[in-house]
Amino acid sequence: MKTIVLASQKGGAGKTTLAAHLAVAAELAGEGPCVLMDTDPQGSLAAWWNGRTDENPKFAPVTLKELPEKLELLDAAGFAYAFIDTPPAITESIRSVVAQADFVLIPTRPSPHDLRAVGQTVEMAVTAHRPFAFAVTQAKTNSRLTVQAMAALSEHGVVASAIIHDRVDFAASMIDGRTVLEVDQKGRSAGEVTQLWQFVKARIKESTKAR
Ligand SMILES: Nc1ncnc2c1ncn2[C@@H]1O[C@H](COP(=O)(O)OP(=O)(O)O)[C@@H](O)[C@H]1O
Ligand SMILES: [Mg+2]
Repeated sequence: MKTIVLASQKGGAGKTTLAAHLAVAAELAGEGPCVLMDTDPQGSLAAWWNGRTDENPKFAPVTLKELPEKLELLDAAGFAYAFIDTPPAITESIRSVVAQADFVLIPTRPSPHDLRAVGQTVEMAVTAHRPFAFAVTQAKTNSRLTVQAMAALSEHGVVASAIIHDRVDFAASMIDGRTVLEVDQKGRSAGEVTQLWQFVKARIKESTKAR
């Protein structure tokens, strides 16, 4: 089982949205079974999952203390990917979650505030010797800011070529426990998520080979 941790010091960057969407994308691509875990005390991902009717991806309640053990159990149970959502901060507990990752995805909005804050999140992944990449999220279409953000981020690490744009369907789809992929599988938003999943999957494969 490969464990993907969504992390960023900034709240509102898209961690919870992407955890849910990537897990559903992996399931729809036939690359599951996937399991979601929520280590954010706010519990937004858990709340989203509770609103779902589809039982896949699965959800596993977890405490930080039991996380390593739980991941072993889920691996033994045959899950292909685990997606772990984290709170927006830099704390010892988040470091302990990042340490469990096979891959860390750092969602980042193309705003100066968010770009300034990425250093600390990157440092967490680097200190834990975990492979990581950025995903640009909530980008405005045809915005110079997006291009500039991608250039700035690429100085810190790999940036996913798939950009997630700012569209109401990302927020709206999650109200009743769904994702854009389940609302309009042929839509632009769904296409972006599918591409981002392909990117994450490829990066995990490469980093596994490199080790
Ligand atoms: N691509 C997007 N387009 C529009 N709204 C988005 C997008 N991604 C996230 N949002 C909205 O932005 C807010 C923050 O996203 P969320 O995933 O909760 O961030 P985080 O978990 O990093 O705090 C939520 O209200 C969410 O619905
Ligand atoms: Mg969140």
